[in-house]
Amino acid sequence: MVQETTVLGIESSCDDTAAAVLRLRDGRAEVLSSVVATQDKLHEAYGGVVPEIAARAHAEKLDLATEDALNEANVDLAELDAIAVTAGPGLIGGVLAGVQFAKGLSVGAGLPLVGVNHLAGHALTARMTDDVVYPFVVLLVSGGHCQLLLVEGPESYTRLGSTIDDAPGEAFDKVARSLSLTQPGGPSIEHEAHSGNADRFQFPRPLLDQPNCNMSFSGLKTAVLRERDRVMDGDALRIGDRADLCASFQKAVADVLAEKSRRALGAAQEAAPITTFAVAGGVAANTEIRDRLEQVASEAGVRFVAPPLKYCTDNAAMIAYAGAELFALGHRDGPTLSARPRWPLDTASQALVGGGRKGPKS
Ligand code: KG4
Ligand code: ZN
Repeated sequence: MVQETTVLGIESSCDDTAAAVLRLRDGRAEVLSSVVATQDKLHEAYGGVVPEIAARAHAEKLDLATEDALNEANVDLAELDAIAVTAGPGLIGGVLAGVQFAKGLSVGAGLPLVGVNHLAGHALTARMTDDVVYPFVVLLVSGGHCQLLLVEGPESYTRLGSTIDDAPGEAFDKVARSLSLTQPGGPSIEHEAHSGNADRFQFPRPLLDQPNCNMSFSGLKTAVLRERDRVMDGDALRIGDRADLCASFQKAVADVLAEKSRRALGAAQEAAPITTFAVAGGVAANTEIRDRLEQVASEAGVRFVAPPLKYCTDNAAMIAYAGAELFALGHRDGPTLSARPRWPLDTASQALVGGGRKGPKS
């Protein structure tokens, strides 16, 4: 008999209000709809996400996004088997808005509720898009996350390494701001870097001298700032200098991510029969970084999976998928489900220092 589960996913942990409908048929996922309402315009003037504004906008848009997702999928509430909602980690106001909304819908429609860890959503995306089997290694690199994880099941994560300060996307955004480039910084820097000399500035490769898989990007950002000030002619930064700064910075980030991923894969391969190295998060859109990571996977003899960008960045399909896996294992949350600003995937590892734009790194 065909096993079929249809799940509504809801995501509101940062600045995207998202809803999606996903169907899992005999273990294969089909995304029936994935709606993402971004809040970019609301936060633009502030140079970063303002938590209170984000929370209010989520509360206003959650029902609309959900309605759109159900309509697009051509699925009624009555056809759903469960509702999956991001219950953390993230900006608490936004997470709360999503959890409260999902609780109301679950009670009103008589549907089971499953609370999902946002990071688990990212970590399991490669299974949703490419049928990746456990165990595998994933690198989450975005504006708010930077972790290397060994994933052995929907509830089994070992953190192999993570940033101790900024996430790489955060560094891209801050460097872009200091070079008067538009936000988000990643694509702007990548564009500038095309015409730059990546070997002109020897930026540090933080923590490469340490044998572990932890990373740091905050000092790198400061080093770029220092070089910018050194090469500036009065108030003006020459176009060529800016391109060289971007190319050299991007190469430094790529070097760190590639080397730490290589070490993480080596460590994971000693512990488990890894077949895949997957990436997730907005920074995985960067061609140089992606190419370097693909090379690392090929040297380690494993498959490289980079899901389509729309599922790498924040979305609700990944939450529906992670929820469907948990639902299949019998997970059910009720009205007592709480919103958690911090929620490490690997509860056995100690938390690392580090704030960051989305609150504490988890
Ligand atoms: O996953 P995401 O959409 O949101 C979260 O932060 O969760 O990632 C956004 C981040 C931003 O910091 C953006 O600058 C970065 O991903 N990014 C890139 C590129 N495209 C987006 N970084 C480097 N190169 C890119 N092409
Ligand atoms: Zn995310």
